[in-house]
Amino acid sequence: MVHCLPKVSVIQDKPMLPSTAAVAKDEHRPLAFDASILGSESNIPSQFIWPDDEKPCLDAPELVIPTIDLGAFLLGDSLAVSKAAEVVNEACKKHGFFLVVNHGVDSGLIDKAHQYMDRFFSLQLSEKHKAKRKVGESYGYASSFVGRFSSKLPWKETLSFRYCPHTQNIVQHYMVNWMGEDFRDFGRLYQEYCEAMNKVSQEIMGLLGISLGLDQAYFKDFFEQNDSILRLNHYPPCQKPELTLGTGPHTDPTSLTILHQDQVGGLQVFADEKWHSVAPIPGAFVVNVGDTFMALTNGFYKSCLHRAVVNIETVRKSLAFFLCPKLERPVTPAAGLVTADNPRKYPDFTWAALLKFTQNHYRADMKTLVAFSKWVQEQESNNKLIP
Ligand code: OGA
Ligand code: NI
Repeated sequence: MVHCLPKVSVIQDKPMLPSTAAVAKDEHRPLAFDASILGSESNIPSQFIWPDDEKPCLDAPELVIPTIDLGAFLLGDSLAVSKAAEVVNEACKKHGFFLVVNHGVDSGLIDKAHQYMDRFFSLQLSEKHKAKRKVGESYGYASSFVGRFSSKLPWKETLSFRYCPHTQNIVQHYMVNWMGEDFRDFGRLYQEYCEAMNKVSQEIMGLLGISLGLDQAYFKDFFEQNDSILRLNHYPPCQKPELTLGTGPHTDPTSLTILHQDQVGGLQVFADEKWHSVAPIPGAFVVNVGDTFMALTNGFYKSCLHRAVVNIETVRKSLAFFLCPKLERPVTPAAGLVTADNPRKYPDFTWAALLKFTQNHYRADMKTLVAFSKWVQEQESNNKLIP
């Protein structure tokens, strides 16, 4: 299908609020993404219709992603460790995706994390808006019309939390603060989920270090303190899924993503020049490298393009934990990964600067790190010109 090739597009610098004109064109259309209405709507508002060359292929072939037995790796048997390191090295050089099983996260916790999503997303829009994301922030409830863009909107709504391991009960406090006491147990559950993800991410960081010939502690130390994000993705059904995308093509600007998708399926990865689907496997996490980790490895490990498609019948849910560095910690590659054959690929930066760039200038897409590196270099040369 011609639609399966990605198109590189730089999003305008100017913030584009959904103009009244753009919305008025679709008279009778809701001004907000109200899932309870849009899910059964057969006239898809134009803002959600993707251009022909970016429309999804719903029957993409399956990508077979290598599986890591994290439990066996943690036991430290030297054969299991070197096998896991080899598999991860190959996957991350190729596309940056792998599966993790035997990770020790309680399946009851994962099930609850999916079930609790219904409690929030089935609320009236006005209730959800109590936790509405503020302009320039990455946390809270967001749906298409709260963003800066008025075209190629994603067919989803999200609830995101900030998670820092050294700030006690941050997720729980957030929920109680914005949604009230009734959401204390809800906040507690996602607090627990973040703590479990933080632990798994540190273990994976140990494996990633070994796989690059670095010390096991190298990335664990780097990410021991972190400023991460948990995002609950809620994709309502769509009566014309061939026109829309749940999440448009992008690489994650963050460092490492640990995703749990429900049994519906919809995640797609661009590898070997075409889109592939990633089948859900109960009990497995899909792990992928993000732009910031690609920079930390000086480009050895790839942050790969992915997206999510929606379907006509059913809601789809996923939980994405994005491990990120501390906001002001310099992101610079390990010395051993900068060689004569592989010189520096990206300038030093901070996660705070990249996050701001994706919030203020540029929609996270397939070229974020390249565009951001160029921007950093321009800023640096401008600063040099000012005496
Ligand atoms: C994301 C993402 C994919 C999915 O949230 O960054 O890529 O399957 N999600 O929900
Ligand atoms: Ni993503």
